[in-house]
Amino acid sequence: MPGPDAAFWQQRFESDDTPWDRGAPSPQLLRWLDEGALPPCRIAVPGCGSGWDAVELARRGFKVTAVDLVLAACDRTRARALAAGVQLEVVQADMLAWRPREPFDAVFEQTCLCAIHPFHWSGYARAMQAWIRSDGALWALFMQQPRTSAVDEGRLEGPPYHCDVAAMHLLFPGESWAWPEPPLAKVPHPAGWHELAVCLRRRV
Ligand SMILES: C[S@@+](CC[C@H](N)C(=O)[O-])C[C@H]1O[C@@H](n2cnc3c(N)ncnc32)[C@H](O)[C@@H]1O
Repeated sequence: MPGPDAAFWQQRFESDDTPWDRGAPSPQLLRWLDEGALPPCRIAVPGCGSGWDAVELARRGFKVTAVDLVLAACDRTRARALAAGVQLEVVQADMLAWRPREPFDAVFEQTCLCAIHPFHWSGYARAMQAWIRSDGALWALFMQQPRTSAVDEGRLEGPPYHCDVAAMHLLFPGESWAWPEPPLAKVPHPAGWHELAVCLRRRV
């Protein structure tokens, strides 16, 4: 299986080598929550990492399922929830294979898709079809980090893997997902990358 495996991610957490981690919830998630665009519901957070977003959602009354491949991330999320005094479900699983007993109203995607090798992105899209109910929504931050090695030499390098908007349209086609009109909101990341924010509504 190409791309980073569980040992890679576990090691990144164990050595505190986590440059993607803002040390706070996603600013775009906070905007969506503060504006009331994303009201409390049953929501899943794939690749929850240290749990900032999952715990913020639980704090705001969402019923949260946080999924991560590795124990270190699940432990961090559980500890953060405990410290915040909130309850959420934490599942250690490969999100490409894991399926919920019943579909969620929403998924919050932050830096999970770009952590997965693009060869597996069709599996990610299949998971979202299975995880999200009809008329539910995928609230996503698509990581933008185009690399010269891709443009000049055709290499697929990451993580983070560049979530080019053309590839996102192929993964989440208009027949199945309602897209907003551009421009999408541009969200800077302290590591020097930026993300494009989008809410994709799953068509009935
Ligand atoms: C770049 S980190 C992002 C963590 C968190 N979302 C954040 O923004 O701080 C990617 C996370 O996805 C997890 N991950 C990678 N591949 C996964 C998979 N196939 N299934 C579930 N989690 C995965 C990693 O363990 C890691 O916690």
